Amino acid sequence: MPPFAHPHLKDLPLLPIGATDVAGVDRIVPLANNEISDPPAQSVRDAVAKAVDRANFYPEVDYGPLRAAIAERYGVDPDCIALGNGSSELIAVLAQSYCGHGDEVIIGKHGYLNFAICTQLAGGTVVYSEPDATGNLLRFDPQAALAKVTDRTRIVFLDNPSNPLGTYVGKAALAAFRSALREDILLVLDGAYADYAEAEDFDPGDDLVRTTENTVVLRTFSKIYGLAGLRIGWAHAPANVMEILRRTMRPGNLSHVTTAAAQAVLAEPDAIARRKKSNAGIRDAFAARLQDRLGFRVLPSQTNFLLATPPPHAPLGAADLLAALEKKGVLVRSMKPYGLGDSVRISIGTEEEMQIAYDAIEALETP
Ligand SMILES: Cc1ncc(COP(=O)(O)O)c(C=O)c1O
Repeated sequence: MPPFAHPHLKDLPLLPIGATDVAGVDRIVPLANNEISDPPAQSVRDAVAKAVDRANFYPEVDYGPLRAAIAERYGVDPDCIALGNGSSELIAVLAQSYCGHGDEVIIGKHGYLNFAICTQLAGGTVVYSEPDATGNLLRFDPQAALAKVTDRTRIVFLDNPSNPLGTYVGKAALAAFRSALREDILLVLDGAYADYAEAEDFDPGDDLVRTTENTVVLRTFSKIYGLAGLRIGWAHAPANVMEILRRTMRPGNLSHVTTAAAQAVLAEPDAIARRKKSNAGIRDAFAARLQDRLGFRVLPSQTNFLLATPPPHAPLGAADLLAALEKKGVLVRSMKPYGLGDSVRISIGTEEEMQIAYDAIEALETP
């Protein structure tokens, strides 16, 4: 008999990764993975080329210069920053560090799928909480999550803004949620898209990290910074959590190349601010066209993607629309694994890419 994986991994879901290539199609419009369309700036390429010169040496595991640059940019204590091989690594290590067999982890019903995978890998049980679905909204509901707390709850993972919903929980509701949550429950606020958020009452949660011992904020260089392929993210965590992460994370998890690229993008905050503004403009114009001209339901988004639902009278439902778009090289993400099979998630690319995407959708969805 071959070796068998631990039974708690039996139903582990596969994290869906959008296609990147389509046979026979020349131009791919990659709107499935919430990436940035622009290639890295010259300053990033130069920094990477320089870093490769030291590839024969292990990285300095302290990552001091990068932690200092993040601390300055975000106004946080450099000693409270842990760097991960993508924020995915931090999600996994936090789950393994704070949850074990018999423990429960609360996740919003449509929360980021990797939370569930990492919880199951750690041996924990995922408990989904219902969303707030009032009006035309769909978002994480703190009250519904509180109602799911039991003696066994160890962690709440909250992606804020949410992937794939694009919606968010405001500052006051977040603070009230933390106060109402038992002190020994770790609240992980995943801000992968926080750099895109523009709403006045949006708050990534760094003050909660400073004032409590049980809140962690996660960030990534994969989204607005455009370094998804280099795999780097970070946690802002209180001293007690940092102490655990120092023991549970592998030293040398990031390469010279990765950290050099991250430092280079942090050195150009104006470019990031321009990207944020341009994303919001392109996103809102695209959402308005889908809604007003084609009758789609589109959730209000604080991110670089939209959750879009074709109207019941549309010629193609979400699954057929996705397949037909793929044939044209326009790649969007299926929402079936998120329990939202009637919708697709569309990342925001350049103006030109969104025009191609819109034209393709209009051609398919006009009766
Ligand atoms: C909510 C959320 N958190 C984390 C990540 C993973 O980011 P990273 O590339 O830093 O591992 C993603 C990526 O799509 C995400 O959507």
